[in-house]
Amino acid sequence: MARRQAPASSACFPLPRLGGRYRWTIGRRLIASLLRTTACPLVRKCRCFITLDKIITLANSKGGVGKSTACVGLAGAYAKAGLRTHIVDLDGNRTISRWLANDKTRPVNLTVSAPDPQTLTEHLQETASRYAPNIILIDIAGSFEAALTIAIARAHLTIIPACTTEADIYEAARVARHIETVFAAFHRTPLYRLLATKVAPLPTHAQAHGFKEMARLKLPLLSTIIAQRAAYEEIGFSGLPPHFAEAGRATTAKAVAELDQLRLEIDALLADKLDDAAELTRTEASA
Ligand SMILES: Nc1ncnc2c1ncn2[C@@H]1O[C@H](COP(=O)(O)OP(=O)(O)OP(=O)(O)O)[C@@H](O)[C@H]1O
Ligand SMILES: [Mg+2]
Repeated sequence: MARRQAPASSACFPLPRLGGRYRWTIGRRLIASLLRTTACPLVRKCRCFITLDKIITLANSKGGVGKSTACVGLAGAYAKAGLRTHIVDLDGNRTISRWLANDKTRPVNLTVSAPDPQTLTEHLQETASRYAPNIILIDIAGSFEAALTIAIARAHLTIIPACTTEADIYEAARVARHIETVFAAFHRTPLYRLLATKVAPLPTHAQAHGFKEMARLKLPLLSTIIAQRAAYEEIGFSGLPPHFAEAGRATTAKAVAELDQLRLEIDALLADKLDDAAELTRTEASA
């Protein structure tokens, strides 16, 4: 039987390899949850090796598809759910850093940093040590540049936001092929999904063509879609993700509902990936 490939997560960080039956992968989640509850400074120092549960990159080489918007919306959903959430802003335009610049309105458990993409690996370790985040979201620029490759190589999941236009889908397919190529070079299986963004609330023929094209190109699509809504458009002005915006408005409520659905869909995907990793470890241990 063909051996299954090792999960991407173990390649991303310098996790110790204990070998044999008690491999690190199996105990990592348990140890992480125990150690998170302690205030011991020594343990806090060690967190950099264990608390990076999820790293999600939002990538599309096409500009204006809604990467930064989806990133902040999703970050708001995780922060509202009580998770320490960190955004790494790798876009040279620093869009998210600008949107979330006001730390009086930004949720306390939502932090942002803007490192040089070349130092991403070191930066992720520093971030883990400093903030002990439960989840990291990486936002990149809408162009085909080195930062895109670096960010997808570090991610447990890459989300490719794309509107249902021909140009967006063309670029999304290009990014998908690039992800496959990068992971194949390291004999790893990537996890990536397309996210349909700015979807018109009333379906159009053009939109239907777009979804057909995604299916024709066999691009794996998240079932949650991000609709065209004022609640998303306002993020840049208010600095508030929908989960922290004016709750009484219909647009806010609808955005919150779809972002929660997106968060649950992503969590299920990542849980499957971690289960696969644990199963692989058990298989290897008993071989
Ligand atoms: N679901 C949405 N509904 C309405 N407006 C949206 C939605 N998503 C994004 N927008 C708007 O579209 C514009 C582009 O969005 P955004 O900046 O998130 O795209 P991007 O892919 O990050 O762009 P870039 O490649 O330039 O970084 C912004 O004005 C934003 O407010
Ligand atoms: Mg952006």
